[in-house]
Amino acid sequence: MTNKEIRERDLAKIWHPCSQMKDYETLPFIPVKSGKGAYLFDFDGNRYLDAISSWWVNLFGHSNPYINEKIKEQLETLEHVIFAGFTHESAVRVAERLVDLTPKGLDKLFFADNGSSAIEIALKMSFQYYKNNNETRDVFISLENSYHGETMGALAVGDVALYKKIYDEILIKTYQAKSPALVSEDEALESMRELFERFGSRVSAVVIEPLVQCAGSMAMYDASYIKKLKELCGEYGVFLIADEIAVGFGRTGTMFACESAGVVPDFLCLSKGITGGYLPLSVVMMSDEIYGAFYCDYLEGKSFLDSHSYTGNALACAAANATLDIFEKDNIIEKNRNKIKTLSGFMQPFSELENVKEIRQRGFIGAVELKGYEPNERVGLKIYEYALKNEVLLRPLGNVIYFMPPYIVSDEEMEKMTSVAYKAIKSL
Ligand SMILES: Cc1ncc(COP(=O)(O)O)c(C=O)c1O
Repeated sequence: MTNKEIRERDLAKIWHPCSQMKDYETLPFIPVKSGKGAYLFDFDGNRYLDAISSWWVNLFGHSNPYINEKIKEQLETLEHVIFAGFTHESAVRVAERLVDLTPKGLDKLFFADNGSSAIEIALKMSFQYYKNNNETRDVFISLENSYHGETMGALAVGDVALYKKIYDEILIKTYQAKSPALVSEDEALESMRELFERFGSRVSAVVIEPLVQCAGSMAMYDASYIKKLKELCGEYGVFLIADEIAVGFGRTGTMFACESAGVVPDFLCLSKGITGGYLPLSVVMMSDEIYGAFYCDYLEGKSFLDSHSYTGNALACAAANATLDIFEKDNIIEKNRNKIKTLSGFMQPFSELENVKEIRQRGFIGAVELKGYEPNERVGLKIYEYALKNEVLLRPLGNVIYFMPPYIVSDEEMEKMTSVAYKAIKSL
């Protein structure tokens, strides 16, 4: 089998996500035969260093022997079971461990199977919490430049025009406060306060991506904003939903980004890295108090009846437990500190390039923003192409090239991914 053969069969039948399919006429996609560690291998024998953790999910490398083993063990006993009326040990372990690991006050956990669904659940739960308490709070607020997924509710609280604009007419109306990543912290908080004042007791929740607006070009802000926002939410009696789907599980340096602000959100959404990048799984965590607002006799009608077929999938939960085992036994958060410093060192030379506007970093996310290019120049695509030819998978967001490698990446691999990006920028 060759790349060409797989491509032809693929193109005959498959419509790929987040793609203009016509682009593949000139820039063919890569048929991946296997993965090992930080590398992916195609059918023609080429390799690619996965500098973006395959859409920010892979934490401990492809085909990780330990995660493989744990999934195989699970496979021998139970692959999946309906999660209404049934449970299984792997799900219980994930729940116990996440309640232990996350900030105190997140006592219960609701499973789903992807990030967008977790956002939908948090929004619905927030709305229904108030309904169950005889209040109607129909306003959701998020930040400018935010991204929370592609399903209709998640898209509605997002603010990246590229994904949202075309659907505007059919999305629920939401409101965006200024982002602390784009304006000063004070201005951002003030704009949030204005929305709270404007909508008063109609505001149900604010949803944010703590520290890094990843799909919003890796825009970064300080933990102090989260702390002050939480205080503001407290003042107005509004829920705070922390979307840590991309930044959770060590990405920003601490296990969860909210930790760095000392904040306990009312809802915490997790996905992506939760299974080490193996299988779809997400969770929404909340307090006993919120859980309690739904707990009643069935006929009272306060139940939360949201469900997905693959909710709490046993194989995904086994992968999640294996991922959490690795965090524990290999002391990953501690070990990542040095690697994060190494990444920072490798990123310094970018500031010398005259077409670089800014370099920024939060933990294991590094970004290089270019200047002087129009969107229709599609400079990101040129970088992507250059990098692939040089064995590195980068996937720039417009004019922003970023690094989000698996945590098992070696210093040599980090050197390679950054030097290829450097040369790619220089070649423009
Ligand atoms: C912050 C954030 N929230 C939500 C999502 C949606 O997750 P999923 O793609 O699993 O639906 C993403 C995906 O990139 C994300 O980055």
